[in-house]
Amino acid sequence: MLNLVFFGPPGGGKGTQAAKVAEQYNLVHVSTGDILRAEIKRESELGLKIKDIINKGELVPDDLLIKILENVFDSHNEADGFIFDGFPRTLPQAEALDEMMTRRSCQLKQVLSLDVPVEELLERLLKRAREQGRTDDTEDVIKNRLRVYHKHTQPLVDYYRRKGIYSEIYGVGSVEEIFQELCQIIDQNK
Ligand code: C5P
Ligand code: MG
Repeated sequence: MLNLVFFGPPGGGKGTQAAKVAEQYNLVHVSTGDILRAEIKRESELGLKIKDIINKGELVPDDLLIKILENVFDSHNEADGFIFDGFPRTLPQAEALDEMMTRRSCQLKQVLSLDVPVEELLERLLKRAREQGRTDDTEDVIKNRLRVYHKHTQPLVDYYRRKGIYSEIYGVGSVEEIFQELCQIIDQNK
């Protein structure tokens, strides 16, 4: 099984690259942001609970995310592996992911990070706001998401570095170039 985490700030290109890599290696692409947005759209109990949090760019509580992940695992029993895109966002989420992996006798192979300068992130997210109209892509909320990322998510770099499974690449360039670079790293370490 090949289990990967795609790591990096909002606007870094995780979703775009995760989709391509998932197709290439036949992995299940798990975008927790997409899952949460779908819950909001269908106005489920969970969706109503998290709507304001997401629209402010804050983080949904760990226990809700962990429950979502448990469901994903349970509904893909025969997957060749998973790419987690947007998860984990906090240390408790990272620890829970390790635990879920251990319980299923598998492991997280690699954490791949896309490093993009902050001015470029802002530009990309504002462009996405114009094109896709995501409710959390307004300038103030984007700035908050970047703050939340630095405070709660960035510290995970050390957690994964210590485990020896962290790689970072520069995430500015063509989608295809970055994809090729990611595939190279994946092949070297799988
Ligand atoms: O991953 P993505 O950027 O699509 O996530 C969008 C929003 O969903 C985040 O800004 C955050 O509010 C919420 N989210 C979260 N915890 C996660 C993933 C997403 O709170 N693990
Ligand atoms: Mg995304």
